[in-house]
Amino acid sequence: MKIEKVDFGTTKEGTPVDLYVLTNSHGVVAKITNYGGIVTSLILPDKNGKMEDVVLGFDSLSGYLQDDVPYFGAIIGRYGNRIAGGKFSLDGQEYTLAQNNGPNTLHGGLKGFDKRVWQAEEMRSEDGVGVKMHYLSPDGEEGYPGNLSVDVVYTLTDNNELIIEYSATTDKPTVVNLTNHSYFNFTGNTKRDILDHKVMIKADKFVPVDEDLIPTGQLQDVKGTPMDFTNAARVGQSINADHEQIKLGRGYDHTWVLGEPGQMKLAATVYEPATGRYMETHTTEPGVQFYTGNFLNGQMVGKGGVTYDYRYGLCLETQHLPDSPNQPQFPSVALRPGETYSAKTVYKFAVK
Ligand code: GAL
Repeated sequence: MKIEKVDFGTTKEGTPVDLYVLTNSHGVVAKITNYGGIVTSLILPDKNGKMEDVVLGFDSLSGYLQDDVPYFGAIIGRYGNRIAGGKFSLDGQEYTLAQNNGPNTLHGGLKGFDKRVWQAEEMRSEDGVGVKMHYLSPDGEEGYPGNLSVDVVYTLTDNNELIIEYSATTDKPTVVNLTNHSYFNFTGNTKRDILDHKVMIKADKFVPVDEDLIPTGQLQDVKGTPMDFTNAARVGQSINADHEQIKLGRGYDHTWVLGEPGQMKLAATVYEPATGRYMETHTTEPGVQFYTGNFLNGQMVGKGGVTYDYRYGLCLETQHLPDSPNQPQFPSVALRPGETYSAKTVYKFAVK
């Protein structure tokens, strides 16, 4: 296993950025930059041993510096997904956040963790090779209270796993919900949309949303709806169904409820029949956002000149439920001084 650090250019402000190339002994490669903690490439074999990239992104930093990049591969924070009205109250204090999605706050605000330069450090352990990212989010950044000290450790193992471990501490009460926004496409080098991928999500309930994709506050049974992935199903099977939640989501763009936070469990599997590539997602998080790239529209030209069209990638963003700061019935996302936020997600790859 090895780690190579290469120059990845400079931001518009002139800050140098690196790319960490992690390689395991099976030749699996994960490339991760300290700009946004972005996983830029993940190169995996298909059932015939053909090595191809299975995530969406760009060949160079300039791609990621464009306006309106839809968070390809990035670390999302301080709060993954939406906070209604860009406001929440905590311990009797109301906070107003940067609104960047209509009236709501999405994925941390105008300049979330996906657009920050992180301090990075190479890591080697018995488990694998990795990179530890650190970011200190100052008190008041994007409206969030407290200096938040965040660590994210990526590890590539010899079992073909990409492990992501998140931790954070604060000096004032705040809210935290970190995730990674990789768009997977297991056809390899993004040959077509993800509608033939077969997905299983181990959840009996999902979080219904309104027209702004804000949770209604209820949980709904998946049974008898197009949201039922308890048995692996082709993504395309019901993605255009005449169903209220499918219409509001423009496809799948919902959180499935996995259970209590803190316990490691299988959340989802993905299988691509043409290549045999298979992924398991395990997590300690209470939810997973299954998003089918419904906002991709052919505007972004990515790696190798491929145009990222409608539904060309799928995300399994392990996280707390959206808008939890305003939904007291959802598991708490509050973090107070003296406490440590921690979460772990394992993406495990194989062929079948
Ligand atoms: C997803 C979110 C979508 C969309 C996307 C970025 O995480 O659920 O609604 O905002 O990010 O384009």
